[in-house]
Amino acid sequence: MTALAPDPARRRADIAARTLRPDRWWVEPAVTAGVLLAFIAYSTWAAFQNANYYVAPYLSPFYSPCLAVSCVEGSSHTRIVGQWFSLSPALLVLVFPLGFRLTCYYYRKAYYRSLWLSPPACAVAEPHRSYTGETRFPLIFQNVHRYFLYPALVFNVILTVDAVLAFRNAELEWGHAGLGTLVITVNAVLLWLYSLSCHSCRHIIGGRLNHFSKHPLRYRAWTELSKLNQRHMELAWASLVFVGLTDLYVRLVASGIITDPTFF
Ligand code: FES
Repeated sequence: MTALAPDPARRRADIAARTLRPDRWWVEPAVTAGVLLAFIAYSTWAAFQNANYYVAPYLSPFYSPCLAVSCVEGSSHTRIVGQWFSLSPALLVLVFPLGFRLTCYYYRKAYYRSLWLSPPACAVAEPHRSYTGETRFPLIFQNVHRYFLYPALVFNVILTVDAVLAFRNAELEWGHAGLGTLVITVNAVLLWLYSLSCHSCRHIIGGRLNHFSKHPLRYRAWTELSKLNQRHMELAWASLVFVGLTDLYVRLVASGIITDPTFF
């Protein structure tokens, strides 16, 4: 029997219906779009507030490191950006974590499906007539993801320092902790786990090696990162939601709406 040669002019199956799936395939992209849009709306609002981002000893992760001369007293690690910058200091730093998330392999899948419907789900036709993937402008810039990883790791170090500094009381005496300390510490841990589970990070550690046997340490690290990598999606969501909640917590305490319970 002769195999039928594929017709190069026919790119899609000849099915009139958009999908034959009987299940509620639209729930996952709808929830994903809802959470992503809610985060974008909240983080944009919070970044432009330029207020209530610091209450001793807590600094919102959206404003850390606070680099502008205009940063409120006590919030700044180093004020290297002069008076010429009159906008919110959050705008100086958010471009790096946002760039890291925007180009993340997992988030790409999430927002291609949920926001661009390309495709919205498996076995559901997309509304677009052509597909060029990430081979052309502007999506070819998604390939810079690995370069966003390096500043993301630097930010994690800074947020870890913030977590250590949070073990002080409002008078900045060491050896104290409140609910804010716990919130800021969990936020830093989740951001580390998200970054270390990154596909690019896994490749940097274990990629381009011909023999793992000659690199036992890298093999060990790659094995551990591979376990984390399997949880990348969960860590992406947990760290995204928690970083927003951390800013909200600091904001509520700084504005006097709630008080920070003290543990010790
Ligand atoms: S692949 Fe998601 S952070 Fe790198």
